[in-house]
Amino acid sequence: MQISVNTASRSYPVFLDSGSALGLGAYLNEKFKNRRCCLVTNTTLASIYSSYINTLKEETGCVIHTAPDGEKYKTIATWSEILDTLISARLDRSSYIVAFGGGVLGDMAGFAAASFMRGIDYIQVPTTLLSMVDSSVGGKTAVDHPMGKNLIGAFHQPSAVWIDIDFLKKLPSRQFVAGYAEMFKYAFIGGSGMFTFIMNNRDAILRSEPKQLMESIEKSIRVKADIVGRDEKESGSRALLNFGHTFAHALEQFYGFEGLLHGEAVLWGMVCAVDLAKRKGTLPRSCWTAFDRIMDGLPLPALPSVPDAGKVYEAMFADKKVSSGKLRFVLPCAEGESVVVNGARESEVMAALEKIGEL
Ligand SMILES: NC(=O)c1ccc[n+]([C@@H]2O[C@H](COP(=O)([O-])OP(=O)(O)OC[C@H]3O[C@@H](n4cnc5c(N)ncnc54)[C@H](O)[C@@H]3O)[C@@H](O)[C@H]2O)c1
Repeated sequence: MQISVNTASRSYPVFLDSGSALGLGAYLNEKFKNRRCCLVTNTTLASIYSSYINTLKEETGCVIHTAPDGEKYKTIATWSEILDTLISARLDRSSYIVAFGGGVLGDMAGFAAASFMRGIDYIQVPTTLLSMVDSSVGGKTAVDHPMGKNLIGAFHQPSAVWIDIDFLKKLPSRQFVAGYAEMFKYAFIGGSGMFTFIMNNRDAILRSEPKQLMESIEKSIRVKADIVGRDEKESGSRALLNFGHTFAHALEQFYGFEGLLHGEAVLWGMVCAVDLAKRKGTLPRSCWTAFDRIMDGLPLPALPSVPDAGKVYEAMFADKKVSSGKLRFVLPCAEGESVVVNGARESEVMAALEKIGEL
């Protein structure tokens, strides 16, 4: 299956299938003819998929760069090592990168592609659920800075995204749930059809039922493609993709980015966003039952400790999404629809945060 992403700077295909990984080499050779290539991956994938990576190497002649695994290595230093490999292998402006891994690897390899020789082509081959439904599409590339996540980066759209959902078979279940959170958020921003689809299929998706899993990934990519097609550089509607994230980022900050995966924080963030929407009145009472039903049974992970609502509230102001000192929230207003709201009373936000302790 092929989904088109059409942004102001570039249009590209997302290929979505099951069992398509072995077709990637032929596709790359056809698309890039004799252009040279670097496959960027991490230590975990290099070990799990060593024979697959070797096959790709034989087929395309690519150079391999293996980065350390983990968000703590999503740094300028690791990005710089990727550039060292590109330069030592004498790749040039016509070369391209294959980013083989999850969102951390994809963001970093994408940023290397954005910056090497002022920008070369790259292909995203996402291997986590989160990167399939979210980070591989849309062209946001970045590394972290000690002062905050994704503070250094560029918008640089890939030339294509190649998704084989069979990679999910080896993904640890905790990582699967983290990706499920980013998929679940589309229920709140992807229209009433997406809301109903997620409502009716959320358990089957969690169980990785092939049909529902494939359909949910496809629908998620379509929602994301539509949003980034309208607003590539987040001057408007792309902010909707941050549903639940104002709370999530503050929770991650509160726990010092340890013990809680980003997607896990997003699950809790969505609970708080729905609660705040009820308090602020963006969500009409007539919708509350449907929202209670869709939230019911979310796979909420245990938190490292009960969060201190006051400290989490303070952490919200450190986020790069604060605009002119005002907190910005994405809050639901109807089934599948949300609005961006600038500012909320401290008491309302604190009450929404306290919901966490009640569940
Ligand atoms: N660019 C964007 O638009 C965007 C959007 C959302 C999130 N992000 C970024 O994505 C990152 C999170 O991505 P993630 O959740 O994919 O985490 P991740 O890349 O750290 O991957 C999670 C773990 O799973 C391992 N893994 C990956 N694929 C595997 C597979 N098939 N089998 C077994 N193990 C596998 C990884 O090595 C890693 O240990 C964050 O840095 C976040 O900032 C970017």
